[in-house]
Amino acid sequence: MANLWAKKSILDIQKESAEEKGGLKRTLGAVSLVALGIGAIIGAGLFSITGGAAANNAGPSVTISFVIAALACAFAGLCYAEFASMIPIAGSAYTYSYATMGEFIAWIIGWDLVLEYSVAAAMVSISWSRYLVKFLGYFNIHLPAAYTLSPFDTATLTDGTIVHGMINIPAVFIIVVMSLLLVKGTKESAFVNGLIVAIKIAVVLTFVILGWSYIDTANYVPYIPENTGNFGDFGWSGIVRAAGIIFFAYIGFDAVSTAAQEAKNPKRDMPIGILVSLVICTILYLLFAHVMTGVTSYKSFQGADGIAPVAVAIDHMGTAGANGVIVPAYPWLNKTIIIAILAGYASVIMVMLMGQSRVFYAMSKDGLLPKVFSDVHPKFGTLAKSNLLFMIFVSLFAAFVPARVVGEMTSIGTLLAFVLVCIGVMVLRKTQPDLPRAFKTPLVPLVPILGVISCLGMMIALPGDTWLRLLIWLAIGFIIYFIYGIKNSKLNRK
Ligand code: ALA
Repeated sequence: MANLWAKKSILDIQKESAEEKGGLKRTLGAVSLVALGIGAIIGAGLFSITGGAAANNAGPSVTISFVIAALACAFAGLCYAEFASMIPIAGSAYTYSYATMGEFIAWIIGWDLVLEYSVAAAMVSISWSRYLVKFLGYFNIHLPAAYTLSPFDTATLTDGTIVHGMINIPAVFIIVVMSLLLVKGTKESAFVNGLIVAIKIAVVLTFVILGWSYIDTANYVPYIPENTGNFGDFGWSGIVRAAGIIFFAYIGFDAVSTAAQEAKNPKRDMPIGILVSLVICTILYLLFAHVMTGVTSYKSFQGADGIAPVAVAIDHMGTAGANGVIVPAYPWLNKTIIIAILAGYASVIMVMLMGQSRVFYAMSKDGLLPKVFSDVHPKFGTLAKSNLLFMIFVSLFAAFVPARVVGEMTSIGTLLAFVLVCIGVMVLRKTQPDLPRAFKTPLVPLVPILGVISCLGMMIALPGDTWLRLLIWLAIGFIIYFIYGIKNSKLNRK
């Protein structure tokens, strides 16, 4: 009988990673790590999901939701930092749990991380598509709604007719382009990443500075709209549900942990990279949400417009003309900002797809997944086959699933991974207290426990259908593990 709870020894993991990645140089300093974090963090969560969360769940108090999600991420981030300084390897949370809670839990996390990486890439591609449609609209190029929305979405045309989507072709397009770039091995150099980070921060600051004077405080009344009678629809339950939804905006700081082995001084720089990028993004997010819900009523972000809320908000920065229609003060701003957002999204998609292939690479190396996921292309030196398989998988989500569904699936999947990482820190402190830890999570077990509670709280507040999808996804994972993984696991064969 194979052992579901077999653990990989940390010394073995460290040895494997040292042998395999011997050529990697420790080149990343604190600033590069912070930039890496911000590059992966700011994306569709802020520029898209915030609109829907304000319109449907929290109203102006979506800003409070950002604070709640930030606290949960800070607790989880401190736990990630301990592991990242101790087990610097590509598999991230998957590898941490293999060492602490055994193979079965590791499998669950690895499988669950598909929700974080692949499904997040699909989400970002869908909002990329939405912003592209907006952008082309400024030049009177109107892509048919049927080909830019999923079959579950509708759009209202200017004459009032409602049309249904069929397939989201621009979303598939950007997934295909980014996957092919990964196949060819485009490395995101520190320079390109730095440039994109600078552009993203500039977008947020421009939006905040120019929008600030158009804030109408009437839009903040009531700050917490009354609950409609349904859990999660406004009121305090709405704030918590919105926190679970916009949690998506913070995902990516854990990507810093995958670069642990390239950090010059992981002991000092890992916590800095993870925590400073979180702090900077939190401040930017709070300012952004405050302005966004201040320049117009949160109700403006209802429907498909909810996923291009920046454009909607900018259209409301202006003064009402004689006919009552607002004349935008910065007609040029939308076009400029949207180009920056489209570029910024492309980089998030790339990081997510890359993270996905790294996690499956680690699982495949351990025998839990077929070899195809760790095959390196002879010429390009990349995980080409894996990238192409995920291109197809992610494209299906991008083409046919609405943004809300993929966004919430990503949030619940990532929250589950964070819960398990927080538990992992406590387990390892008990089972291997003497192992050297370059960075120690402060106040154990308080911080991990608060991490578990806050992440679980946000999971519980997510809609029931999202839970159902998570359970179905995990059930598929169990079947694959018991049919394939358990028999092929290298650790179990030993
Ligand atoms: N945090 C990333 C985003 O918002 C995933 O796009």
